[in-house]
Amino acid sequence: MDQHNMDRKPGWPDNVGIQAIELIFPSQYVDQKELEEFDGVSEGKYTIGLGQSKMGFCTDREDINSLCLTVVTCLLERNSIDHASIGRLEVGTETIIDKSKSVKSVLMKIFEEHGNYSIEGIDTTNACYGGTAALFNAISWIESSAWDGRLAIVVAADIALYAKGNARPTGGAGAVAMLIGPEAPLIFDRGLRSTYMRHVYDFYKPNLESEYPVVDGKLSIQCYLSALDNCYQMYCEKADKIMPDKNQSLWNVNCFDSILFHSPYCKLVQKSLGRLVLNDFVRAQKAGSKDSYAGLEKFSDVKLEDTYFDKEIEKEFLVFSKGCFQDKTEPNLFLANQIGNMYTPSLYGGLVSLLIMKPVNVLAGSRIGLFSYGSGLASSFYSIRVSSNSSIGSKLDSLVKSLSHIQGQLESRKKVSPEEFSKILEHREKNHHLAPYTPSAPVADLFLGTWYLKHVDEKHRRDYERVPLSS
Ligand code: ACO
Repeated sequence: MDQHNMDRKPGWPDNVGIQAIELIFPSQYVDQKELEEFDGVSEGKYTIGLGQSKMGFCTDREDINSLCLTVVTCLLERNSIDHASIGRLEVGTETIIDKSKSVKSVLMKIFEEHGNYSIEGIDTTNACYGGTAALFNAISWIESSAWDGRLAIVVAADIALYAKGNARPTGGAGAVAMLIGPEAPLIFDRGLRSTYMRHVYDFYKPNLESEYPVVDGKLSIQCYLSALDNCYQMYCEKADKIMPDKNQSLWNVNCFDSILFHSPYCKLVQKSLGRLVLNDFVRAQKAGSKDSYAGLEKFSDVKLEDTYFDKEIEKEFLVFSKGCFQDKTEPNLFLANQIGNMYTPSLYGGLVSLLIMKPVNVLAGSRIGLFSYGSGLASSFYSIRVSSNSSIGSKLDSLVKSLSHIQGQLESRKKVSPEEFSKILEHREKNHHLAPYTPSAPVADLFLGTWYLKHVDEKHRRDYERVPLSS
């Protein structure tokens, strides 16, 4: 027996993955069609050009702590999770309200009341990638010698706001919490992860007094697409080694049943799926593979790095990949289209969309590819296998059932006019970081069970309360 195996504890966990998942979003939204008119841009720019329908946003009643308190409380309650069973809690966010005190430490409020003070984990930040980094930390803990048999919770949450101008319609807000542990219905593939990181200034938040980023929109798109190319190529090379195809075909998009992306806006995601097919095409050409790309032969000498803003290639691959997009990616954009870019939860909102949109029998046994991107930049491509094991099957059933309220809750949101939306953002802008401060937005507009900011005292200490679960 080698050293590695000798050191394994009995009960080394198998099928580590997502056992339960919860998503929350703001109770009000602005309509993107109305916003086009209000902003004086051409009709269709936000709805067709960016592919967005509605954008969720928070009033001054919600901040990053309250969003995370709500999503963790709801995850625990909806799934009857024992507070004592949690041994790690990680938060991924780029919505920073304190340079020292973590959001995770605020979440201890929920566990302290139940006598659990022994929970590892803290916050992780790098733009929209923090949630994925937090998730990888949680998986590592469960697969490590430090694991004590308890479960982990990973929270990804953000309030995505942009200054007035062309980036504003790509905002959003929300939070996702995932319960991570062994024998899960959504299992992380082992040995199949690829990562690409660089130092760039495409989107960053140097002004700690403001909630708004400094963003170079075009550069951020180029960085996103080049990170996707690099991660996907690395992932495919690994997959070709670990799971070689018996027909000698290279790993390609058809090896996935669903492909999820970080979703700044839906149109970029559709282009990204086309981009993966372009990557498959380039790999197939290099390897002399016989895979068929009818009509695309004229691009056989193309270099990926020359194509980020090549409209002809973009269009041809969009058309070629349309069926694949409709099958593997479009259903996963349901929440991104209705809420907007939630930053760190965006990719995991894609996972929730998939679980809502596809029937359990179609999900069982399927493989999901996931691309996570955070400006600055950090990115990874990894995959999840949905269990087809009948003993775990009932867990998949209950996981999916636990999300059945989401569509109804989306429909019950309050529509706010663009004028009012703009005023609310101005109010947030003026009062951000003010102390003492008492928020003024009505609590009655929040969903039942929402934690909200009650008061900030003169020492910047924040006090939260919860809307009762029933009215
Ligand atoms: N009808 C239909 N389509 C239209 C219309 C119209 N009336 N008007 C414009 N469009 C199309 C454009 O042709 C363009 O399509 P294309 O992307 O296929 O070329 C699209 O709508 C967007 O229009 P642009 O003029 O390119 O938009 P603009 O430059 O004003 O802003 C941007 C878009 C850069 C994405 C901006 O919203 C932004 O900076 N957002 C934040 C950064 C971001 O999300 N980056 C992505 C990755 S990083 C991250 O996640 C934060």
